[in-house]
Amino acid sequence: MDLTFSARIDGDLIICEIGSDTPLASPVFCASLMAAGEVVEGGWLIHRLAGYLEVRLPALEPGRPHRLVLRHLDRSYRPVNRAWLPLGAYLRHDGGCDALPPLPAGVAPAEWSAPPGPEGLRLVPPPTDWQPAGGTVAPSGIANSDEPLAAVDRLAHATGLGPFLAADGLPLRLIDDSGQPPEGYVLTIAPEGLTLAAGDRAGAFYGGVSLLMLMHTHPGAVPCGTITDRPRFGWRGQHLDCARHFFAPQTLTRLIDLMALLKLNRFHWHFADDEAFRLEVDCLPELWQKTAFRGEGELVPGVFGGGIRSGGSYSKATARALIAHAADRCVEILPEIEVPAHGFGLIAALDGLRDPDETGTEVSIQGYPANVVNPAMPRTWGVLNALVDEVGALFPFGHLHLGADELPPATWDGSPAAAALKAREGLGGRDDLQGWLLERLAARVAANGQRPAAWEEAARGANGGIGNNAILFSWTGQAPGIAAARAGYDIVMCPAQHTYLDMAHTGAADDWGAAWAAFIGLEQTISWSPLPPDAPDIAPSVIGVEATFWGEFTTEDNQLWPMLLPRLLGVATKAWDRAETLDGAGLRALSGALRDVLKPAFGWHDGA
Ligand code: ACM
Repeated sequence: MDLTFSARIDGDLIICEIGSDTPLASPVFCASLMAAGEVVEGGWLIHRLAGYLEVRLPALEPGRPHRLVLRHLDRSYRPVNRAWLPLGAYLRHDGGCDALPPLPAGVAPAEWSAPPGPEGLRLVPPPTDWQPAGGTVAPSGIANSDEPLAAVDRLAHATGLGPFLAADGLPLRLIDDSGQPPEGYVLTIAPEGLTLAAGDRAGAFYGGVSLLMLMHTHPGAVPCGTITDRPRFGWRGQHLDCARHFFAPQTLTRLIDLMALLKLNRFHWHFADDEAFRLEVDCLPELWQKTAFRGEGELVPGVFGGGIRSGGSYSKATARALIAHAADRCVEILPEIEVPAHGFGLIAALDGLRDPDETGTEVSIQGYPANVVNPAMPRTWGVLNALVDEVGALFPFGHLHLGADELPPATWDGSPAAAALKAREGLGGRDDLQGWLLERLAARVAANGQRPAAWEEAARGANGGIGNNAILFSWTGQAPGIAAARAGYDIVMCPAQHTYLDMAHTGAADDWGAAWAAFIGLEQTISWSPLPPDAPDIAPSVIGVEATFWGEFTTEDNQLWPMLLPRLLGVATKAWDRAETLDGAGLRALSGALRDVLKPAFGWHDGA
């Protein structure tokens, strides 16, 4: 059967044309929008879950494409670009299901400057200090295979930037210097050889990474001089949503390599959300077995580009291999289990997590009904404790992110069991109850010897929120992070307006990405300060910066790279560079030095 499919945006409307060379009696169009949708003309809505909808069409006749017009239920949520067109579209008909041809998947327009980049040292993130000495060297490689430099060589080979080591290369003397700060180094480049002083493995590794990058950004003419360098923040993160889109393990490995090249050191692995729980935990095999794949006939239908069937899960062996790979690149992994909201799949896969007498009608911001576990149910604690124990124990970093974002309004209000719990514990509204739940769960994380973490909402509640020395991630902006810091929490700044790299670069219709926080051009990644000037008092509590990538509209792994690059250069700079003197224009110019270094390694494909 030959099917045709096109779609375009017209104001708040999404206008589709669906054709078939074979007559089809009242097929059902299944697809997902960015948010809950409705039919304006051309069909009858028969099912909706979050952005996913099923629309019965009239009979399709060969040569007569059918027009179907959709829009978001919330008409203020206007479609912006190609990522907002129907994703994962297919037809269900008497003979089965057939995928409609994919629409042109966008990748954002390139924002790199042209090589070679500016005069001066072409290094991102910029080093703390650079003292040029005049002259250049042209090393074919580095003649020192000490362990941290051998790790840089492995990174170089893995990213197509190798070899880094060469027996006949420039000699390098590695100096163990306990006077260097954590992750810091001093690298001296001179015609007779190199010296690299560091007090720990990470410092030596980053000195080597700087050298590797300079060999590529100054080909044949690496400037002589001395780099003195150390990071501003100990937490320099990259988050990846592997729940909405299943990213293959080798994509995660490559992402960690990219992070290492930019001196990022925390991979925030978001493998659980409404749509899936993807880590193959032993304690609850039915959880990942029932949610790893979504689509036709699955527990969760093809929300967010799920199509007829897509997905996957990560074995514990895969997780361990990723942990080892990350450790080699000086990256630690923060797993996230995401509770009590964003639990649609969890609740569908496991019994007993909701109050059977619940009458509430709360709906999540993504359009899911009943996606929050109920803390008054004993089974909820059995499940959450088991997940906390097993997931926490798997990851040697010793940190566990519990989630806590986007609790729907009126959650638990219709639950008699929750009402009784609130009365017993003296709790007021839903924030108090979430705070109570998180505090208990985080106490278990802490008792397991790990440090809890959560999104900014975890500070809410009359009890002061999650407590237990948790790290909170300030994502709706920086104000929640400032307030939480003043309440005693350590904060990672990831304001969506600057670090959410799933946002479209621009408002152009042929761009790609979300838009609810901002359009984020390269300049926007750097036009902010992790420590807002009006809140100098929170300096000791701001421990880091993180870039975020949500996978709602990702249908292929390779769509990731042109969304991250070159904008990750800006976020990495915010995480590393304490001087904050690099501006947007400077960053754009520097991107020219990196374009031909990073683009070939990270799967860029221009256009569709
Ligand atoms: C979030 O973006 N919901 C943390």
